[in-house]
Amino acid sequence: MDREQVICPCLDVTAGQIMDAYEEGATTVDAIKEITGAGTVCGACIDEIEDLLSELKG
Ligand code: FES
Repeated sequence: MDREQVICPCLDVTAGQIMDAYEEGATTVDAIKEITGAGTVCGACIDEIEDLLSELKG
């Protein structure tokens, strides 16, 4: 996964920002929303956040 890839275009949140939030303990979509703001505007990126989280969980 390219860290520069924008996952949430509404707020310009990148995969790297989500990965960092995950490392800091944001292991659920709700936690990612709270920390990065991703997924809090139109919600279109929620599926991608979920995919990225399950990749990180392995
Ligand atoms: S694309 Fe993430 S909230 Fe709109």
